[in-house]
Amino acid sequence: MTIYAAKDYLDLSRKAANIISAQITLKRNSVLGLATGSTPVETYRQLIEKYRQGDLDFSEIRTINLDEYKGLSGEHNQSYRYFMNDVLFSHINIDLKNTNIPDGLEEDSEKECSRYNQVIRSMGGIDLQLLGIGGNGHIGFNEPSSFFEKETHLVALAEHTRKSNARFFTSVDEVPTHAYTMGIKNIMDAGKVLLLASGEAKAITLYDSFFGFVTPEIPASILQLHPNCIVIADEPALAVIREKTGWEGAVYDN
Ligand code: PGA
Repeated sequence: MTIYAAKDYLDLSRKAANIISAQITLKRNSVLGLATGSTPVETYRQLIEKYRQGDLDFSEIRTINLDEYKGLSGEHNQSYRYFMNDVLFSHINIDLKNTNIPDGLEEDSEKECSRYNQVIRSMGGIDLQLLGIGGNGHIGFNEPSSFFEKETHLVALAEHTRKSNARFFTSVDEVPTHAYTMGIKNIMDAGKVLLLASGEAKAITLYDSFFGFVTPEIPASILQLHPNCIVIADEPALAVIREKTGWEGAVYDN
């Protein structure tokens, strides 16, 4: 694991966009695992900018998103399909047929989960998986648990997650109670993992995830075992790591 310190959110986003751009340039039909949430929004904006400048071509890129709320259609403005179209896909030359997100309207969870695992396999796996991190250490919607869930599964969202995501809905009661999410094995099988963390609300969980025990109680901690994991965090998110480890540099290699 390598942690790169970023000055602030913009610096973090630029660094992340540069890494993703390099991946696209080096392999024009890369499979990108994508994430939703507030954190990657500026990274996506930077990628759109690079596309507009003629530096990136998404025509052969394939994408697979981490998760989707169960019960929301792709037209619902809080669904992750809607989000991805809105913040990235509709602004670049990607073929929407090459973009994959779990089908929130599929009632049969076994069917949807095995379909999604099959999609990942048929693309030959994920070259680069982008991740945010929840304040409770979740990655995708892999919530704190007593075991690591392996592949795509239906999850009951943690209260912490529903409250945190209530900011996008009119009330917490409207936040779906369940979601489909890739599992830890799907994420760990990715060739590269790029985790982004911004803001002081992530500082404790970032320290626990990368400097504590590997435990399903803190799902992101499994990434300590990934052979090619890059973390980019801004200074507010690094506050606890800086304080507890005494690390003062710009790059931390472990
Ligand atoms: P955020 O969410 O980017 O909105 O902080 C991250 C996550 O919950 O994975």
